[in-house]
Formats: sequence, C-alpha cells, structure tokens
Amino acid sequence: MNIKNVVVIGSGTMGSGIAAQLCNANVPVTLLDLKTEISEKAKKKIFESRPPLLIDKSKIDNIKVGNIEDDFHSVEKADWIVEAVVERIDIKHNLYEKISKVRKENSIISSNTSTIPLKVLSSKMLEKDKKDFCITHFFNPVRYMGLLEIVSEDINDDKKINFLKFFCEENLGKGVIICRDTPGFLGNRVGVYAMQVAMTEAINMNLSIEEADAIFGRPMGVPKTGVFGLYDLIGIDLMADVLKSFIKELPTEDVFHEVAKEIPLVKNLISKGYTGRKGKGGFYRMNKEGSKKILEAINLKNSDYLPSKKIDLDIDDKISLKELVSRNDKYGKYAWSIISKIILYASSLIPNVTKDYNNIDEAMRLGFNWTKGPFEMLEEIGVKFFVEKDTKLKINKFIKELYDKNVENFYGKRQIYTNLETLGKVKQLAKTNKENKSAFTYEHKNYKIVEFNTKANTLDYDSMDALKKASDKNLIIINEGMQFSAGVNLNYVMDFAKEKNWKAIEKFIHHFQMTCKELKYSDNLVISAPSGLALGGGFEVLVQSDYVVAHTNIITGLVETIVGLIPAGGGTTNMLWRWMQTDEAKKNTDFAPQKVFDIIGYGKTASSPIEAKPYKFLLEKDKSVMNRNKLLSVSQDLINEKKDGYKPPKKPTFKLSGGQVRDKMFQALEKLYKEKKILEHGMIVGKKLAFVLSGGNTTIDKELSEDDMYALELEVFVQLIEMEKTQARIKHTLLTGKPLVN
Ligand code: NAI
Repeated sequence: MNIKNVVVIGSGTMGSGIAAQLCNANVPVTLLDLKTEISEKAKKKIFESRPPLLIDKSKIDNIKVGNIEDDFHSVEKADWIVEAVVERIDIKHNLYEKISKVRKENSIISSNTSTIPLKVLSSKMLEKDKKDFCITHFFNPVRYMGLLEIVSEDINDDKKINFLKFFCEENLGKGVIICRDTPGFLGNRVGVYAMQVAMTEAINMNLSIEEADAIFGRPMGVPKTGVFGLYDLIGIDLMADVLKSFIKELPTEDVFHEVAKEIPLVKNLISKGYTGRKGKGGFYRMNKEGSKKILEAINLKNSDYLPSKKIDLDIDDKISLKELVSRNDKYGKYAWSIISKIILYASSLIPNVTKDYNNIDEAMRLGFNWTKGPFEMLEEIGVKFFVEKDTKLKINKFIKELYDKNVENFYGKRQIYTNLETLGKVKQLAKTNKENKSAFTYEHKNYKIVEFNTKANTLDYDSMDALKKASDKNLIIINEGMQFSAGVNLNYVMDFAKEKNWKAIEKFIHHFQMTCKELKYSDNLVISAPSGLALGGGFEVLVQSDYVVAHTNIITGLVETIVGLIPAGGGTTNMLWRWMQTDEAKKNTDFAPQKVFDIIGYGKTASSPIEAKPYKFLLEKDKSVMNRNKLLSVSQDLINEKKDGYKPPKKPTFKLSGGQVRDKMFQALEKLYKEKKILEHGMIVGKKLAFVLSGGNTTIDKELSEDDMYALELEVFVQLIEMEKTQARIKHTLLTGKPLVN
C-alpha cells in the first residue's frame, strides 16, 4: 500500500497543521471545511504562520482547499482521510457515515481527537470501516512537535497500522507511539496530570506563578514555559475542555480526579476572555503603558496582575533531581511534591495503560519537550531514596517490586517505539569517553559524538575543548536537547566584560576560532547534525564542519550584529569564502563582501534547510532530514560513504578591495542612518563589519590568508565588546531574550 493522496477534513489549528506537514513531505493534500472560505483562510494562516508551518512557502499550492459539500468527491481518491473537525461526537459520526459511502477500498480513515475514545468514535461504523479506522493524535504545532500517537483496536489490520506508522515516521518525521484506547493515551494522560499537579500544588503551597514556572521548568528538564506559561500557550479554555473529558472518561478511583477539579480562578479567567496568548492574556499578560509593553503575572490569591518578577532560585544549572527535591526550602518541597506525584501516577499506569513504561518517557519528550520522563526521573533519584524519603507516600506495585528487589538501575533500552538507530539508543551502547561541564563525548563504531549540554547549548571553553579532543576521530556533533546551539555563551563573555578583562575574551574567542579551524582541517570527517537553533557560534560550528545533516526544523544564521557584535568564530570569513565561490563574485571582487555585509548586517536567519541555501548557510552537499531520529544514522552513513579518500579542504586566500568596497558599504550605512533605519551604534557595528569584509587595511593587490581574516574578526569583536553600548545590548538580551533597539 501507499499514501499518495490525502484529504484532511477540518481546517482549524490541527487540520491546517497536518495539511502543512503533508505539504512539507510533498504529499498532495486537500483540506476541506464547512465552507471553502474557511479552508482558504486556513491556507492563508498556514502561509503566514509564525513559527512557519511550511518548510518551503513556495509549495503552498500543493495544498488544495474546498468544502465538504462541493468537494467531497476528493475523498474518493484519497489513500488516507484525516478527520480533524471540532471535538463533537455527533459531527464526527455524521462525517464518518459520509466518508464510508465514497472512500475507496483499503483507504485509511483516522481521527485527530484528543479526548474521544476510539470505541466511541467507531461505535456506529460498519465492520469494514472499523477495520480501517484509527486515531492519529498529532500535537500542536504539528511541524514542530515530535509526537504522533496512533491508537488502534484488535480489529485493525496490524500491517496497515504498521504501514501508517512507517509513513508518518519516514515522511512526516514523527516519533510514532502505538497506544491503547485509554483516556488521553500516553502523552496527555501524564502530561496534563503533571500540569494539573504543578498548578494545584503551586496554589496549595502559596507559590507565585513565576516561582512555580521556574521550578517546573529547567531544573526538572521541562521547557521554560513551565506550567502557567504552557497553560497560556495551549489555551486555558482548551485545557478546561480536556479536563472535563478526563473527568468523564476516567474511573472515579483514578487520582487524576484529585487535580482535575475546576479551579475558581481559572473559571473566572475564561469567563473574562483571558484564555491565554490567543486571547487577552492569561496567567501572564502584556500590558501597555504608553509605548512600553510590560509583562505582568497574575497573583493566584486575588487575581491581580503585577509586573512579572524574574525568580532567582539560587540553583546551579546542573542541579540533580535528587539535590533539587532534597532542598529544605519551599522550592525543594514544591519540587518533591510534584515530582513524587508524577512518578507515582505514571507508574500506576503500568501495565494496564501500557506495558512499556519507556514509551511514557518518550511521549513526554516528544509531546511535551521534557528532557526526561517520569521513569528516568525515578532512576535518577533512585528507587530506595524515593521510597524512603517520605513514608506517607502510597507506593504502587511497580515501584514496590523494584524496591523489594533492590533494583536501582531498572531502566532498560530507550526509544523502543522505533527501529531507527537513534542518538538515544546509541548513547546507551557507546562507551562514554568524557563529560566536561558543557558537553558529553561518546565513542561508537568508527566515530565520536559530541553532545553539548548547557542551557540552550550555548558554547564556552569546555564545549570547544570537547570538540577539540574529539576531532582525533570522525566526529558527529549532535544532541537530543531542543537546540543545537543558541550561540556563544554571552553570560560567560559578560562575566569577563564586567571585570574589563578583554584579554580573557580575546583568548576565549581565539580558542573558539582555533577549535573550529581544527575541525575544518582535521583529517577526519566532521558532521554537524543540528535541530532547533543553530545561531551565531552554533552556526559557526556548522559552517566549519565538512557536512551538515540538518533537521528540517532548524533556525540558523548569524545574529551577532543584533547585540552589537560581529561573528568572530570564523563565521564572517567562511561566509565570505562561500560567496566568493559564486560566478558573480568571480566577475566582481566586491560582490561577495557586499552580499555577506547584507546577510550578517541584517542578522538574517533561515527557518528551514530550504530557506538556508539561498543565503549559503547550507550548501548543496548538505543533507536535510524530516525525522529528527534519523539525524544520527544519516550522518553515520555519510561518514561511511565519504571516509575513504577524504581530504580536508585547502586553505583559502582572500583578495579584497579594501577602501573601494568599504566606501560602498559606508555609503549604504549612511543612507540607512539618514532614513532612521539604523541608529548610531548600528552604524558603528556596520562600519566594523565593513572593515573586516573589506580586508581591513588591505589594498586590492594584496592577498589575505584565512588566519589574517580570523585575526581581523577577533580584533573587531574585542573592540565592539569593549563598548558600553554593546554591553548594554547584550545585558538586555540576556535579561529579556529580546534585542534592545535604541
Ligand atoms: P478548531 O476549532 O481549530 O478547528 C475545527 C475545524 O473544524 C473548524 O475550522 C470548523 O469549521 C471545522 N468543522 C466543524 N464541523 C465540520 C464539518 N462537519 N466538516 C468539516 N469541517 C468542520 O479545532 P482543532 O483545535 O483543530 O481540533 C481539531 C481536532 O483535533 C479535535 O478533535 C481536537 O480534539 C483535536 N486536537 C486538538 C489539539 C489542539 O491543540 N488544538 C491537539 C490535538 C488534537
């Protein structure tokens, strides 16, 4: 069987996301709704979506739109019909009846429901339809969330379900977990429970929403939206509907009921239209005071909004869960209270909801972006510690058995839901060579792996040290965290800046350059396999690797000018070199410097490999992969394909026109300044960038070596960081995550 033609019915949040992902996979798709105007609107929304749902916007017309009256005939040809209409059983039943009459034999029908059991959905179906019907539960936003839960019944043909799983893994890039027909399946059953526990315990323990989000966040391996931020993101009203359904579907003895009760504050927020980010705001809101926007947070006691406070938990970035839950303050108590409840709940679901506890952890990674699931948390804390910490805990059978048998390392294989050779699996098999404070290094088969492990994988001395030491073998730079790397660790740089220790900054950036150069000229192959952010210094690692195997969900580019700096880890030089290889550059010496001046000057970024190529952030030789789980095996294949006869690149030389091209760049800057498109400091940064890209004080007939160019980058970087205006920009960005515009 094959899936060559898909119809998605319902063009709301999920239907349009699914259609866009099919379009990304080059599968022809028709998107139907009640009226064609609604589907057309959805198509426009897909085109304009932020973050973009499409990998390549020029493909938008591969999505056909229509309405269920006039265009229902499209169902006749479909190999897969995805129903993603509103969560109303009567509407869904009516639709299935209509589909049954026209669909072709052997086609697959699936529902995207998040709350209605499969047996209820299929209750009115003919046997022949039941056999081809399942739930395909995607997560929002479909392009970016890794999880797809497929729920099937005994009546389904395993071959067909496995084919659909294969298709969604291979073509749509999803981590597909087959689930039983139980309420909320795996992801939401545990994920929504965890959110409810985190919310109710924050209220019970008198924590502010910022405090709760700070704990139920990075220290626990949970995204920084925490619980209240995530509530706002999902939609407070949507969460209320999901909870109602859990209350309806779960047996009364299920402890979920204890945290699913309606909370008056939440009810009040919904009734006032505070439904989250899509509404007027929610637990957090943006308040405008004149031209200023102020982020405010709700007070859980009296519903008043006050300016949101940054919480300093005084927690080391690398705190272990055991240390976290052992802290004898309100934060430690809160962490223990929620982690213990989540672990107990998740383990109570074994074996009735799933035999494979591992799948719950993976669902939490893929569907909620947790770095570890409840069972990995339990292993990290230790079963003995967990059971003995609080004798009042009601230990369930799963944990009791581990405790009685004194089993501490109970965790078996990871990612058993897929046959792919994933990073998660290989990490378990590989011999761990080294771990420094910023990266892990593994050795496997004929290559090493470096996995950065700092916050947003920002790069510092230790990250570079790990790369340097690992380049004695073929090397794959890859990680399981959400980001490849958000760039150089600016906190680290600013610590030196505070002490006016410019020498230390110079030494660090020089080390960065030398490490990347070592990767570039090593006799071994170096492959970077990014997903998520690969910005600034992160991109400089990519640009100096031999190949890039990029996940389709990357955001890459050089953004240093936005904080008043220039790329100095080899980024400016390597971009210049790439553009110097073009035909235009061969005819006109100033073409490449001017092009790179624009790209770096405007801090351009690309949000997919397809967008990255026109900027030359990626080259034709680089590969792009839909399924993140395949990044490692594709990189590994590339090593095996290229390793024989591999020779490192020749060192380039640069012929630049000095003052000639610099004048042109200066003129462009003056014009932008006059038009008030850039401000004074922007002009200074632009001029410094122009200085590097024009070859400094060179003259047209002098060739510069790559080392000369790196030295120029470094000189200018240090000059810029010494400036107070640059430091102010960096501080502002570190504090708010946003650039300072003045
Ligand atoms: P939505 O409200 O954004 O969109 C539903 C769409 O269905 C609307 O455009 C509506 O006009 C259309 N519709 C209603 N009746 C129809 C009919 N008879 N024929 C054709 N179209 C019809 O809803 P959303 O959020 O996209 O949810 C769709 C499904 O996905 C629901 O079953 C929901 O439970 C599920 N889901 C939602 C998630 C989310 O985060 N929003 C996540 C996972 C699943």
